[in-house]
Amino acid sequence: MQTPVLAFDVYGTLVDTQGVVSTLRARLGDEASRFADRWRDKQLEFAFRRGLMGAYADFSQCKREALDLVDQEWGTRFGEEFKQSLMAAYRRLPAFSEVSAALERIRKLGVRCVAFSNGSRQSIELLFDNAGLLAMFDDIVSVEEVRRFKPDAVVYAHLRRRTHSRPDNTWLVSANPFDIIGARYAGLRAAWVQRNPKLPFEPWGDPPDMMAPDMEALADQFEVMLRREGKLQP
Ligand code: LAC
Repeated sequence: MQTPVLAFDVYGTLVDTQGVVSTLRARLGDEASRFADRWRDKQLEFAFRRGLMGAYADFSQCKREALDLVDQEWGTRFGEEFKQSLMAAYRRLPAFSEVSAALERIRKLGVRCVAFSNGSRQSIELLFDNAGLLAMFDDIVSVEEVRRFKPDAVVYAHLRRRTHSRPDNTWLVSANPFDIIGARYAGLRAAWVQRNPKLPFEPWGDPPDMMAPDMEALADQFEVMLRREGKLQP
């Protein structure tokens, strides 16, 4: 019996991309959160487009390019020093409050936990080190190894190769619907962490196999499922 592999998306799933808001607030007040959302959306769009173009670049470059764009769009005229401090804040994003305890519970179920991200291995190591999550993972799988971005089917196939796991035994855990749809399309199982109750799942693609409001609730559901499937280690 193969141990299930749980591959966790990082940004927005384990760590809170709104963590940059406190740095932004000094300049933007109540608009800080909206700027952070726009920045996040644009960095993803730039990664998607670079993937389609075959013009891979490190995800941190997509982040910086998106920051420069949103700065122009908003007319905020952030100087280089402030932009550097925003990029630094992105490297120190905090884990969502329940993540650490939930991961510990999930690990005790005897599953293999890996991080699976658009970010480079080095940036995820640094992020996890700051957020106290580094010891929770058996491995970090980065898209940089295949120079494509989620949701290209190539990256989900790469995840399976790296973890030597069967599709029906490989789970993507993500708060990002585009990631869930990509993983399901590539034949993996997928659990959606619906962190924002107002965010609907997209009305196309295969729905997630599991959904939970946070990682604690997800740990409960995994435990029930593994017991039902006879995969819990005694
Ligand atoms: C990641 C982004 C897509 O960590 O959330 O891969």
